[in-house]
Amino acid sequence: MRIGVLTGGGDCPGLNPAIRAVYISATERGWEVFGFRDGWRGLRDGDAAPLKLEDVEGIISRGGTILGSSRTNPMKSAEDLQQCKEHFRGFQLDALVAIGGDDTLSVAARLSDDGLPCVGIPKTMDNDLSNTDYTFGFDTAVTVAVDALERLRDTARSHHRVMVLEVMGRHAGWVAWMTALAGGADWVLIPEVEPDLHELAEHVNRLYARGHTYALVVASEGITVPEEVDEERAVDAFGHVVLRERNVGQAVAKEIHRLTGFETRHAVIGHIQRGGPPTIFDRVLATRVGVKAVEMIEDGDFGMMAAVQGNATVAVDIHQACGVTKTVPLALYHLAQTFFR
Ligand code: F6P
Repeated sequence: MRIGVLTGGGDCPGLNPAIRAVYISATERGWEVFGFRDGWRGLRDGDAAPLKLEDVEGIISRGGTILGSSRTNPMKSAEDLQQCKEHFRGFQLDALVAIGGDDTLSVAARLSDDGLPCVGIPKTMDNDLSNTDYTFGFDTAVTVAVDALERLRDTARSHHRVMVLEVMGRHAGWVAWMTALAGGADWVLIPEVEPDLHELAEHVNRLYARGHTYALVVASEGITVPEEVDEERAVDAFGHVVLRERNVGQAVAKEIHRLTGFETRHAVIGHIQRGGPPTIFDRVLATRVGVKAVEMIEDGDFGMMAAVQGNATVAVDIHQACGVTKTVPLALYHLAQTFFR
């Protein structure tokens, strides 16, 4: 047997442990593993090399991906899709493991529909894929974001300021929600709930009135920006707006200052939350879904994704996993709100 593996979309900690798990489980069965470079670009251009044990040794603790990543979308052109299929056959692959979020997995779903044996491994620091309880990358991102919030608390307290922390999260506010809850923030803004900045300003006023001399606000990059102008924005290969250009944190900070008069600053942790060593949780999760993906190939479970549900790894339909965004339920948002005193 010969299998291919690729990592697509935004990188996140856990990709290397997943590649390692795929490699070790596959070679244990006597299979060969080819690593395709930079996501779907590697399959489209036939850019791959056989992986060796030395390639995966010591990578369990490394962030990023040894295979490289890109947001190349071969579904944008019939010719690119055809090239992918030809290289799949040219490399004499028996199966391909696609590690990625909804965009990368939607390509794997399409190739499976067209008869190529593909399996998926879910990854995204956004934690917004359906049919899996968690995706690796999320726990590390939240750990980094909570650390940032705690540092902001120190400076906020010293200067009696309101600090706004902008975190990633394209369609869902999971990172913002968990950072606010675990970091003890005073407010959170997530894409699932229309921001009410007057309510936020009133809360800050109340905090200061009762002697609290600073406030911490966590904002997801995906929220509606106050008074956002309808201007043209850059989009990526999958048609998503490049959110960092919207400067959500800055806009929220300005509005808080305008409404309360309190000195307010903002900080954007951006790609820092996507780098660095994966947490233990992410290393173990990535390893488990990597092993599961190889078992799925062995069982002929193609067009499926290795998911975690409860404490079990299970195979779920890849279409269902990437078709619907898993957003933060309102009940969890209200849970966080309970602590805004
Ligand atoms: O999709 C994951 C994600 O981390 C989003 O939260 C963020 O908007 C986006 O990637 C940023 O991607 P890029 O690396 O292209 O700037």
